[in-house]
Formats: sequence, structure tokens, C-alpha cells
Amino acid sequence: MSDSIGTAVVTGASSGIGVAYAEQLARRGHDLVLVARRKDRLDALAARLSKVASRKVEVLVTDLAKPEGIRSVETLLSERDDIDLLVNNAGLGALGPAAAANADAVESLVLVNVLALTRLSLAAVRNFQKRNRGTLINIASVIALGPAPGAAAYSGSKAYVLNFSRSLEMECANTAVSVQTILPGPVHSEFFEQSGVTKPMFPEHLYMTADQLVATSLKGLELKESVCFPTLPELDQWGEYESARKKFAKSIVTTGIPAQRYA
Ligand SMILES: NC(=O)c1ccc[n+]([C@@H]2O[C@H](COP(=O)([O-])OP(=O)(O)OC[C@H]3O[C@@H](n4cnc5c(N)ncnc54)[C@H](OP(=O)(O)O)[C@@H]3O)[C@@H](O)[C@H]2O)c1
Repeated sequence: MSDSIGTAVVTGASSGIGVAYAEQLARRGHDLVLVARRKDRLDALAARLSKVASRKVEVLVTDLAKPEGIRSVETLLSERDDIDLLVNNAGLGALGPAAAANADAVESLVLVNVLALTRLSLAAVRNFQKRNRGTLINIASVIALGPAPGAAAYSGSKAYVLNFSRSLEMECANTAVSVQTILPGPVHSEFFEQSGVTKPMFPEHLYMTADQLVATSLKGLELKESVCFPTLPELDQWGEYESARKKFAKSIVTTGIPAQRYA
């Protein structure tokens, strides 16, 4: 086994994008801790990566919708000094109209997409800041920028991921700790099926593979892109969007006087 360049924790590593992160990070020389509920899949991936990439791969079977599950990963992130990368990837969509929503599935979404991601990010950033090194990658979605019927809780959760992660990124600005938020469009994985969607939601040409997505994320890190839009043709467009947002935000905080139309 060759020297490790550090240990990466990947949540949701039993499927889709998480598997692709694990594979590409192992190939780059990271040891890994793979987190999810499906032990058989994590064990199979760990065995494969230990062999083909000659890496040390640990498995942590845990449910991130449960307080004790979150705590077990938090403890790891707080106590281990070899961990210098966390990919908060575990997530679910619980898609469908709110009137027909399964409230328990929506609660799991909030616990995994929001609460677990928050607590794990805080534990990781705290430990990274102590050592002044480390990288946090949080998976949002393009839907973070657009409220959408049929995806109320999902779009809300990803808007949270975007604002939360960007705020952390600002706090880490003058340190050697990096925070990347990635906003993928549709990606081939088990995501839609897990949300009970049986037919393709988007035309085929809008999808990318999990491998392509992860390659953009890791290249984006090299390019120091703290917010990564895998399919955005020109980065300037994000700059223009941000300028418009800041201009609007300024116009709503210039006075405490209610606007004339509400008189
Ligand atoms: N696919 C897309 O089009 C797309 C687009 C934008 C963003 N994303 C985001 O990308 C991330 C990965 O999604 P994916 O497309 O790879 O979907 P996926 O194939 O369904 O994988 C989801 C992963 O999350 C894990 N997970 C779900 N609930 C969990 C829980 N309670 N505890 C622990 N792990 C849990 C699953 O593992 P277990 O079931 O084994 O626990 C699985 O490994 C998600 O955050 C998703 O919102 C996806």
C-alpha cells in the first residue's frame, strides 16, 4: 500500500455520486471512510478499492436520519487528525406534490440533507481549522436556485446547503481550509428511483454520469472554484448572477421604513 495523501470521509458511498467520489479519491491516493446504511454495498466497494487502488478503506454503517447515526460520524470527524476531506453527499429527494407527501420521508430528507450535513460540516470545519488544512465538499443541486413544485422540501434543503456552505466558506476565507459547494443538474444514479419517480424526469441529454460530476468537482477544487456548476459554460455568468443578487439585497436593506405601496 503506497503512502496516503490523507483520509476522506464520503457519506452516501453506497450508490451513485458517493461511489464515484470514493473511486476517484482512492485513485488520487486518499484512504477512505465510507458511510451509508447498506453494509453489503459498502463492504463490496471497500474490498474493491482496497485491492485495485491499494488504499485503506474503512466502512461506517450508519443511519444519518438518526441522532446516534449522525453522532458516530461527528465523533470520527472531531477526533481523527488524519481526516482532511469530508464529502457530504448522502441525500434524498422525497419528490412529489406536497399534498401527497409522506411526512415521514420529508422528515428523513430534512434530517439527512440538512441536519446531518450541518453537524458533520461543523465538526469537520472545527477540526480542519485547528490544523489549518482540510476540504469540505457539500453537494447541493441546481434546484437550490429555483423553487419548484413537486420538490418543495428538496429545493428548500438544497437552498439551505448553498447558503450554509457559502457562509462557512466566507468564514474560512483567510485559512487553508477549503469549502466547495457543488450544484449538479440531473445525474444518473438511484436518486429518482429512491424518490419513487418511475419515468425519466428530464430529457436524456440533460443528464451526466456520476463519474463526470465528480471529475468536475475535483477539477473545480484545483481551479479554486468554491461554488461549482458542472455545466455552466462561462464562469462570468455566475459573477453576473451574484452582482444582481448583491444589488437586490442592498436595495432591501437600505431603510427600515415600510415601502409606500404598503401604506
Ligand atoms: N442524481 C441527481 O440528479 C442529483 C442532482 C443534484 C444533486 N444530487 C445530490 O447528490 C447526492 C447523492 O445523490 P445520488 O444521485 O448519488 O443518489 P443515490 O444514488 O440515491 O445515493 C444516495 C446516497 O445517500 C445515502 N443515504 C440516503 N439516506 C441515508 C441515511 N438515512 N443515512 C445514510 N445514508 C443515506 C444512500 O445510502 P443508503 O441508502 O445505503 O443509506 C446513498 O448512498 C444527494 O445529496 C443528492 O441530493 C443528485
